[in-house]
Amino acid sequence: MDIYAHRGSSGTHPENTLAAFKEAARLPVHGVEFDVHLTKDGKLVVIHDETIDRTSNGSGFVKDMTVAELREYDFGSWFSEDHKGEHIPTLEEVLLVFSQTAHHINIELKSDIFPYDTMEEKVLALVYDLNLETRVLISSFNHEAVRKVKLLKPELQTAILLGGILVDPLSYMHNVPSEALHLYFLTAIRPSVKKVIEDGGIVRVFTVNEKEQVEALQQMGVHAIFTDYPEKMLSYVK
Ligand code: G3P
Ligand code: MG
Repeated sequence: MDIYAHRGSSGTHPENTLAAFKEAARLPVHGVEFDVHLTKDGKLVVIHDETIDRTSNGSGFVKDMTVAELREYDFGSWFSEDHKGEHIPTLEEVLLVFSQTAHHINIELKSDIFPYDTMEEKVLALVYDLNLETRVLISSFNHEAVRKVKLLKPELQTAILLGGILVDPLSYMHNVPSEALHLYFLTAIRPSVKKVIEDGGIVRVFTVNEKEQVEALQQMGVHAIFTDYPEKMLSYVK
């Protein structure tokens, strides 16, 4: 079972900052996951929420601020004083952290609340410019975005993110189309998901921080987990 560092090594460092990504890049885990939004001036930045309120000393929507404005805020000290001064990273800055490693890179498009027109094109342009396409996996709760990525780049790996339960997940995946499901832990441990795996679908599960969860998912044959504690998980996962 593969391990992806969720929002970087977000249990030990402020999520979605260069500090969290450099820590993940240092570890022998399979991959890293992070979230992207689009700024007022059309730049891709790495942050989980639509607003900067929870993870910075500022407030407001990412979509209403330029990169220069966003850079004025501190994205580290909410987590710990040791990380004071961390800034919001651009997608390019984060991709560059992994340009010389072997990590797989799961870019989650956070376009399920605000549509962020042309986000897909911008992300793909950067991924291909940096020659990272064989290591990149694009996912989203916005399945229209996943469909668009597949349409633009059929060879690129994608995944459908789900927080709920589908009646026939495999045919839904084929219909989007996408080859993988990324599932919330509580909806993952069930026979319909085991059937997806048996029928050849790829299943990865978020967010898994406990040993008991790892054991249950390994038994089911789940392909990967997203965890906030990648270093700790290395000792639990076979
Ligand atoms: O991509 C897996 C996971 O990150 C999805 O949920 O809310 O942590 O982005 P969230
Ligand atoms: Mg995410």
